[in-house]
Amino acid sequence: MIFLSAGYETTAALLTYASYLLASNPDCQDKLIAEIDDIAPKRDDVGYTTISKMPYLDQVVCEVLRIYPPGILSDRECGETCTYKGYKIEKGLQIWIPTFTIQRDPTHWPDPLKFNPERFTKANREGRNPFTWLPFGAGPRICIGMRFALMEAKMALVRSLQVVRFEISPLTKIPPDVGNTSLLSKKSSYTLKIVQRH
Ligand code: HEM
Repeated sequence: MIFLSAGYETTAALLTYASYLLASNPDCQDKLIAEIDDIAPKRDDVGYTTISKMPYLDQVVCEVLRIYPPGILSDRECGETCTYKGYKIEKGLQIWIPTFTIQRDPTHWPDPLKFNPERFTKANREGRNPFTWLPFGAGPRICIGMRFALMEAKMALVRSLQVVRFEISPLTKIPPDVGNTSLLSKKSSYTLKIVQRH
């Protein structure tokens, strides 16, 4: 069951929000399309090596996962009673780590609702607390599908943007409704315009 819900729903959510955010930020979409046209313009160019050479694609995907993390929280059980910043945490206590909230906290992410892939350039990543970006969790129980999911989603985006662009339509809800379960599911269907590039 975990492989189905953790493996399909999450990647589908990432692609849904990626297409919405690219449609509503056409400058970023243009920049991504330029990178794709430069490095992998044709179907047969899409592979592990080419995808790994696309820094802007990685920045876009990281920023989508920041604003819309498919898993809105991670949880842990305290293994040993300890005190942290004056709070006593008892052994056995269940702790929820609020990924969605941390990733929209203006202390760490200025103007948090703005889609800005530049937050993930090499220079801008440096010095940032790594625990402020947790879409795949962290530590020994980090998502085991992370590398596969990133590669799969990036390949799907590149294949799509080789042939089409995403655009906002009069039916697009801005911002989109999100559900209220631990998986950031859609409350209703999402509508975008798909325009053939060539
Ligand atoms: C964009 C896609 C994905 C996201 C955002 C995501 C996110 C997460 C998160 C937040 C966790 C909890 C990590 C923690 O508690 O520290 C997790 C665990 C897990 N994920 Fe993913 N995941 C994705 C794709 C996948 C895929 C494709 C698979 C399998 C093919 C997968 C399999 C798992 C499994 C088995 C766990 C449990 C690991 C454990 O408890 O040791 N996930 N994932």
